[in-house]
Amino acid sequence: MTAALKVGVAGLGTVGAALIAQVARQREALAARCGRAIEITAVSARSRTKDRGVDLKKAKWFADPVALARDGDIDVFVELIGGAGDPAKRAVEAALSAGKSVVTANKALLAKHGVRLAGLAEKHRAALNFEAAVGGAIPIVKTLREGMAGNSFERIYGILNGTCNYILTRMEQDKLPFAECLKEAQRLGYAEADPGFDIEGHDTAQKLAILASLAFGTKADQSAIYVEGISSIQPADLAAADELGYRVKLLGVAVKTAKGIEQRVHPTMVRKDSAIAQVMGVTNAVTVDAEGISPLTLVGPGAGGAATASAVLSDIGDIARGVRTAPFGRPTARLAAVRKAPMQRHEGGYYIRLQARDKPGTAATIAKRLAEQEISLESIVQRHHQGRREKGSVPVILITYATSEDGVRKALAAVGRDRVISGTPQVIRIEKN
Ligand SMILES: NC(=O)c1ccc[n+]([C@@H]2O[C@H](COP(=O)([O-])OP(=O)(O)OC[C@H]3O[C@@H](n4cnc5c(N)ncnc54)[C@H](OP(=O)(O)O)[C@@H]3O)[C@@H](O)[C@H]2O)c1
Repeated sequence: MTAALKVGVAGLGTVGAALIAQVARQREALAARCGRAIEITAVSARSRTKDRGVDLKKAKWFADPVALARDGDIDVFVELIGGAGDPAKRAVEAALSAGKSVVTANKALLAKHGVRLAGLAEKHRAALNFEAAVGGAIPIVKTLREGMAGNSFERIYGILNGTCNYILTRMEQDKLPFAECLKEAQRLGYAEADPGFDIEGHDTAQKLAILASLAFGTKADQSAIYVEGISSIQPADLAAADELGYRVKLLGVAVKTAKGIEQRVHPTMVRKDSAIAQVMGVTNAVTVDAEGISPLTLVGPGAGGAATASAVLSDIGDIARGVRTAPFGRPTARLAAVRKAPMQRHEGGYYIRLQARDKPGTAATIAKRLAEQEISLESIVQRHHQGRREKGSVPVILITYATSEDGVRKALAAVGRDRVISGTPQVIRIEKN
């Protein structure tokens, strides 16, 4: 039997402790599946005395994760500290430079430094595996990189942040305002005390940068992604979406267009009968459109210790078996730089909610301004019981056929100048699915 794979784990928090527990529980099955035992021989965290509910007696303790990464006694370095900066970055660099394979769940590090780290892995013939960085237990990295290695991708989109999906689900089902649902998510431990990173879409963007790289061969680059969060969504939008056959989800979308790869994160209307629309609460999902196959959707727990540790352990298993794949599915020299897509050139359907002044000529003015931009309407709904009931104005909901974002923005600016609406119109992009 081959010698045991010796694993060093830096970070013993939610994911690290769950990993250690799972390695202990699955000891025999892992040895059988990988052809060798997997042993956690060294660990690092900030506090040596904290009770983490796992047995660490046999593991060598390192106060410094970088020293652990360099330790000659480990075969694999597992980084579960988090953050794009040090010590996570320096520790991963140290391990790869020493020719040691690395497993990480750190989306922030990969979205910022992934290409450089993949280059370092290539140079030192080490593996850099990150299944846990996107979608928790959902094996989406392997699906794109290996399971669909022979496919040409058209589009990939997903619900990649459980906090946002939980908030939108509660808003829709219980007709509650955003702020109240956010507070509840914080109380239940689904949202951070400082929730901005999740609700403003940045967490989703980091994960999308990784998925886009795997699907389209782009250099993972968070700054090339258009990002808009969910804080402007109101219960009135969710109620209107429901009546019109849609749901609102925060999606990360990467799509091949004639102008290049468009990467964007924003609240999105999806048809209620689509697979992605069924995904409620903290669950994550990713849909892949590839040439010649109908959409494929993977759904599952996107966070939590056990779910994330399951993905980390699958990456460790690959290393135990001697499998080494290019981190982003192809050599780094073949990854292409990607520019930020100008959203004014985005084409698609739009949901628009206006507070229209209740006076003769309003409808005609709005219709004229839309026609000037060659925008055709799929439906127009005037709802007296939805939205803000203001004296002298009524909420109007418009659903457009595919049109350009530039046209929509120009038409709405003109309608604003005509003084036939009050307040700022709500605009939500519709994703065809
Ligand atoms: N939690 C999830 O559901 C989830 C899901 C997907 C991906 N991830 C990713 O997994 C990684 C870990 O997340 P987590 O939720 O497990 O984080 P966490 O609970 O905050 O744990 C972080 C761990 O890192 C240790 N640490 C922090 N700074 C350190 C330093 N300077 N030196 C040594 N150790 C240090 C902490 O030590 P102490 O315990 O001693 O303070 C702690 O054990 C992150 O990249 C995260 O994005 C997490």
